[in-house]
Amino acid sequence: MNKQKPTLLVTGGAGFIGSNFITYFLEKYPDELLLNIDKLTYAGSTANLDEAEKHQGYDFINGDITDETLINRIFTDFDISGVIHFAAESHVDRSIQDAKQFVETNVIGTTVLMQAARNAWEKQDVLTERRFHHISTDEVYGSLGATGKFHELTPYDPRNPYSASKAGANLLVKSFGSTFGMNVVISSCSNNYGPRQHKEKLIPTIIANALALQPIPIYGDGQHIRDWLYVEDHCRALDLIYHHGNRLETYNIGGGNERTNITIATEICDILDQLKPEIKAHSSIHSFKELILFTTDRQGHDRRYAVDDTKLRQSLGWQPVVSFKSGLKQTVAWYVNQWEKVIL
Ligand SMILES: NC(=O)c1ccc[n+]([C@@H]2O[C@H](COP(=O)([O-])OP(=O)(O)OC[C@H]3O[C@@H](n4cnc5c(N)ncnc54)[C@H](O)[C@@H]3O)[C@@H](O)[C@H]2O)c1
Repeated sequence: MNKQKPTLLVTGGAGFIGSNFITYFLEKYPDELLLNIDKLTYAGSTANLDEAEKHQGYDFINGDITDETLINRIFTDFDISGVIHFAAESHVDRSIQDAKQFVETNVIGTTVLMQAARNAWEKQDVLTERRFHHISTDEVYGSLGATGKFHELTPYDPRNPYSASKAGANLLVKSFGSTFGMNVVISSCSNNYGPRQHKEKLIPTIIANALALQPIPIYGDGQHIRDWLYVEDHCRALDLIYHHGNRLETYNIGGGNERTNITIATEICDILDQLKPEIKAHSSIHSFKELILFTTDRQGHDRRYAVDDTKLRQSLGWQPVVSFKSGLKQTVAWYVNQWEKVIL
C-alpha cells in the first residue's frame, strides 16, 4: 500500500460488523485505501476478510488499540484520512464475568486512538477536517418499559459493564470534539444480525445448537425485546454518517424490528424446519422448536431496547432495505452453509 496516500483507518475490522463494513466499503469505493487494525481476539478472524484481501487498497495490522506506540506509529507512517472505530469487547455476558478488559479496550483503547489522531492531525493542521467516527450501541441508554424509544438525547443509563464502557467511550469521544474541535461523530445502533457474527451471540447460538440437535438456551422468560437490524443496512448507515454526518452529533440507527428473544428462536426454528428437514428426520424431534430451553436469566438483563432513528432518516435519507424476514432467511442460510463446510 502507498503510505503517502490518504487512508481510512478501520479498527476491529476482523469482527462481525467491521468485516461486513470493510467488504461493503471496498466494493463501493474500490479506489480507496483502507487499513484495518485488529488484535484478533477470540472474536476476530482474518477468515472474515477473504473478499477484502483481494483488494490492492486493503492492508491489515495485527495489533492492539491500547498499544500507544503502535497507534502513534500508524498515524506517523500512514496519511490517515479518517477513522471508523469498531474495535471493542462486545459481549455483555463476558463483561459480567470480568469487566476489566472492557474498560481497557473500550475506554482506554478509544482514548489512545483519539490522542494519536489528535496529535497527528494537529501537526498536519487538519484536526477540524478529518473525521473520527465512533461506533456505539443503543445499550448505553439503558432499558425501556413496554413503550417508548431511545432517541439521541435520552440520558445514558448503562446497566452492565459492557454498556458502561461504551458510554464512557462515547463521553470521551464527545469531549475530544468539544475540547479540541475534532471532527467527531457517534452512531448508536441496535442489535445487528447477519453473516460472520461470533457464535456466542444469540442468533448464531440458536442456529448452531439447532443444527447440532443441542438445547437452544433462552434466558429467563424469553420476553426480552431487541430491535434487530441487518448488518448490511447498518453498513449503509455508517457510510452516510461517516461522509455526511454533522460534527459532534450522535445518530441512532434502528431496525424497526422489535422482537422478543423467544420469537426470534421460534422464527429461526421454522426456517430450519424447512431448510434442513433431514436433520430432524434422524432424531426424535418433529420441529427444532422442541430444542428450546429456558435458562436462568442474565444478571441485570435489560428488558427492552427500541431505537428512534428519525434523525438519521430525515437528515441523511437512510432507511433499511432488507426486511427482517428476508434478512433472517439469508442469515440462517449463511450459517447452514458454513456448518456444512465443516461437517461435510
Ligand atoms: N453486534 C451488535 O449488535 C452491535 C450493535 C451496536 C453496536 N455494536 C458495536 O459495534 C462494534 C463492533 O461490534 P461487533 O459485534 O462487530 O464486535 P465483535 O466482537 O464481533 O468484533 C470486535 C473486533 O474488535 C477486535 N478487538 C477487540 N479488542 C481489540 C483491541 N484491544 N485492539 C484491536 N482490536 C480489538 C476483535 O478482535 C474483533 O475483531 C463494537 O464497538 C460494538 O460495541 C455492536
